Amino acid sequence: MRKQDNELLTRTGPDTAMGNLFRNYWIPAMKSDDLEVDAAPIRLRLLSENLIAFRTTSGKVGIFEHHCPHRCASLFYGRNEEDGIRCVYHGWKFDVTGQCLETPTETADSDIKNQVHATAYITQERGGVVWVYMGDKDAVPNLPNFEANLLPEGARWVVCGLRECNWLQALEGDIDTAHLSFLHLGALDENHFPPGSPAHYFQKDKAPKFEVHETDYGTMYGAHRPGDEGNIYWRIAHFLMPFWTMPPGGPLQTNIIARAWVPIDDENTMFWHLSAPLPERPPIQLADKKGKGLVGIHFKLEANQYHTSDWLGRSRYKNNAANDYGIDREVQESDSYSGIDGVHMQDQAITESMGKVVDRTQEHLASSDKMIIMTRRRLLAAAQTFSKDNVLPEDVHKPGIFNGPRAGEMIIPEDADWLQEYKDICQEHVNTETVNASEE
Ligand code: FES
Ligand SMILES: [Fe+2]
Repeated sequence: MRKQDNELLTRTGPDTAMGNLFRNYWIPAMKSDDLEVDAAPIRLRLLSENLIAFRTTSGKVGIFEHHCPHRCASLFYGRNEEDGIRCVYHGWKFDVTGQCLETPTETADSDIKNQVHATAYITQERGGVVWVYMGDKDAVPNLPNFEANLLPEGARWVVCGLRECNWLQALEGDIDTAHLSFLHLGALDENHFPPGSPAHYFQKDKAPKFEVHETDYGTMYGAHRPGDEGNIYWRIAHFLMPFWTMPPGGPLQTNIIARAWVPIDDENTMFWHLSAPLPERPPIQLADKKGKGLVGIHFKLEANQYHTSDWLGRSRYKNNAANDYGIDREVQESDSYSGIDGVHMQDQAITESMGKVVDRTQEHLASSDKMIIMTRRRLLAAAQTFSKDNVLPEDVHKPGIFNGPRAGEMIIPEDADWLQEYKDICQEHVNTETVNASEE
């Protein structure tokens, strides 16, 4: 990859090509539960902009540029009062649209409150998530209708977590099925899994063959390995503009999931996981060579998280680069390929180990990277078209464009048309009525 293309793909601050593109999409900003009525404002950094978020007495959400428009004191220190935020420096108060309501240090004849606006972004809530739109206010698109964002309370799992590297290398881990057999399951072979189970196939053949396709909304792959006699085992996944993935963590029939890799800035990412609650998986028994037992195969995305009030303080992990992600070299020798505990932390360690922004001029891409190559091209083309011609990818404003894509696994006869089988399963199992009904 050329250096300038890597720069274009990875920079998302104000006035960058990719940043301008991202600002035309709805962005998951906070978990709804994290914003309590009348509670203190919370620091929120998105696309290299420092913001604050708060919920008013009537339940509305404000997301603001953190500098007060009067003399730039931080509204983080502000008071969340009766349907507005009040700067503690001179007491000016703003509603959630940024409209100035009071300027108590001005004389009664002053009209300045009608001339001053705080920079506030548009918000919406759905699926346990506060969404923010930071783009052109005259062209606000629909919220994405992912199935995973339409799950009712009690039937959904919404998690976010800090990843301390650029958004794109973090995202690329989700569209890279080949690492599964090594990073996450390298200590196991097919005999640890019963025939007929997906892991049996992907541990038996660790070199999947890829088919990749452009879609209306991004890219998709089907990666296949031999199944039982006469059958093929497929894993299907999607990239959706501009920073979404749907990875194949279960059968296509039931696997409702969407994950976002939202740039906090160019060196930090907020990872979002929206899905139905993951089923408990039975532990895998290994010959326990050193008495420590098997570690590493769990999906506890919030394990060891903690929160601080700084710009990067939401959903940090106790295991991080400073302690080598808690790697246990003894366990790595015996019962876990990586020695790092948990699938999420294994991905975290590896994608962060590439450097804050990976230098893609140094890579040697291979056939297993086809999906990554196509996705980068798609993103580059979208950002370049938008900056040259001011034309957005068609998906942004098209209602319902996201309906239907599912990621997941299927086992089908070797002479079957995999794309047709995939479409048939989606047609049967995606509840498009629910998805369409959300477009009120
Ligand atoms: S700086 Fe905020 S009111 Fe003066
Ligand atoms: Fe992974």
